[in-house]
Amino acid sequence: MPSQEVSNADLSARIDTSDEWIRSRTGIRQRRFAYEGQATSDLALEAAKRALAQAKIDADQIDLVIVATITPDMAFPSTACILQHKLGLGKIASFDIEAACSGFLYALDVADAMLSTGRYQNALVVGAEKMSSILDWQDRTTCVLFGDGAGAAVLSKQGIGPKIMGVYCGADGANPSLLCQPGGGSLHPASLNTVESRQHFLKMNGREIFKSAVRVMESASRKLLERHNFSVADVDHVIPHQANVRIVESLSQRLEIPMGKFFCNLDKYGNTSAASVPLAFDEACRENIFKDGDLALMVAFGAGLTWASALIRF
Ligand code: ACO
Repeated sequence: MPSQEVSNADLSARIDTSDEWIRSRTGIRQRRFAYEGQATSDLALEAAKRALAQAKIDADQIDLVIVATITPDMAFPSTACILQHKLGLGKIASFDIEAACSGFLYALDVADAMLSTGRYQNALVVGAEKMSSILDWQDRTTCVLFGDGAGAAVLSKQGIGPKIMGVYCGADGANPSLLCQPGGGSLHPASLNTVESRQHFLKMNGREIFKSAVRVMESASRKLLERHNFSVADVDHVIPHQANVRIVESLSQRLEIPMGKFFCNLDKYGNTSAASVPLAFDEACRENIFKDGDLALMVAFGAGLTWASALIRF
């Protein structure tokens, strides 16, 4: 996490909002923002170094880097290539995945599949975002929701520790404008007009996203559990995408998995998009909530719309 803490009260000094509104609608109390000049790859670098140290793996053993992000350092080259150089890794395969808040789970699926071919041994998978770089401070319904951060994992073919039992990913591209950053791409290249009409910032239809989020996270959870012959009763822990505590509560009700099994840290960090699931997973590991034999379900949704789930056995 970047060190700069920004509370709801700090935001209310800057825009027309209140701690009460933000907390009651979202559960968020504060978020972290990166400093000017600190890029997504810098946040990814810190997370990656810690993941390598924790996995007790030398950088030269990594032969694949995947970064999930919607706030890359630049449109191209990929943030994964920039990270590869900053970490001093070999000249290994490095690329980004853009699946918004589902990005880390998409990256897990891709890395897991690439390791299973036998052509790769150790993958570094990172979810990293500097959401503050695309927030519109004239849109109070979106700018209060997001934060910056990065989380990283090392996946090994011969690894010790928790095992990925399976990953499921899906998407529906019918309504891209529900959640998007319209300006700067090939459809609306950067121009005076795209800047003046604030097209380079995040746009969101919050109500529609809320409804879809609960529906798709429920079905992504059920589909993966069914595929592996588990029931919801077999799930010991859920690590959901950290968007909004009301979304998590609705998911808990629909899945009939009690809130006590859901891990939430969104009150401290807000919605960090692709970084949210690995950040929550890391914090849950540090709090020693996982016991040998436990089954953890990770589930996320994001712009696209995309959705994904993963089952981890300890
Ligand atoms: N402070 C104070 N008042 C506000 C604020 C604010 N920050 N934002 C909006 N309001 C006001 C509105 O102006 C409106 O006032 P009005 O009734 O006088 O017009 C009122 O609050 C209600 O606004 P709504 O937008 O209807 O609020 P809602 O209850 O729908 O909550 C929210 C909005 C929190 C955004 C909700 O829709 C939500 O959580 N949606 C899901 C968003 C999400 O999780 N997105 C992440 C997707 S993941 C990814 O890929 C990035």
